[in-house]
Amino acid sequence: MRLQIYKWLSRLKIYILRWGHRQRDYRVTSHIALTARALGASGFILADLKDFSIQKTIEKITKNWGGTFNFSMGIPFKNVVNEWRKNNGIIVHLTAYGENIETSDILNRIKSHKKDIMLIVGSKKVPSRFYSERISDYNLAIGNQPHSEIAALAVFLDRIYEGKELSKTFQNAKLKILPSKRRKTIIESDQNRDKNC
Ligand SMILES: C[S@@+](CC[C@H](N)C(=O)[O-])C[C@H]1O[C@@H](n2cnc3c(N)ncnc32)[C@H](O)[C@@H]1O
Repeated sequence: MRLQIYKWLSRLKIYILRWGHRQRDYRVTSHIALTARALGASGFILADLKDFSIQKTIEKITKNWGGTFNFSMGIPFKNVVNEWRKNNGIIVHLTAYGENIETSDILNRIKSHKKDIMLIVGSKKVPSRFYSERISDYNLAIGNQPHSEIAALAVFLDRIYEGKELSKTFQNAKLKILPSKRRKTIIESDQNRDKNC
């Protein structure tokens, strides 16, 4: 069983679906996408609207720091959900009102499907239909206190990947950080030389 879960984890695709985005949410939305990418998710979808400055930020980061993170926007929320279901993925809605990730067995139930996961995060009060089976297979709380979609996403990814996402290497990276006790060291793979910042 454990071995099967490990195999599934290495193939698992997690997409983030951002519902709602106000003008002032620009930084939070781009931080959700950056966090998703850095912590192992495969892609991010900004539903119903387009924000080209966020797209530019995320694509630039991926180009420099590697990997194959997919950024999409402007697709109607309902179409994303329907398409995901058709492709046999499950949908998890992150909400303070859901089943607690620590005090319930929700994470094991999610893992037991061994399916790709669409994670819905809101930016404001979400419509009540989001909690229903028509949209969400699970309503999951990262503790039952309201906090932040970025924090909720980070904790979820860390729990599901069991910390392994933190040592992930990104293919075709132009820039790479060399971990250091005291120095800021970036390796530029293009010129094949070290650069101390
Ligand atoms: C500013 S909060 C709004 C809080 C909202 N009333 C709710 O349902 O959690 C925006 C988003 O952060 C996420 N969020 C906030 N607290 C959370 C928690 N404790 N667990 C999971 N997600 C949370 C949810 O996705 C929520 O839509």
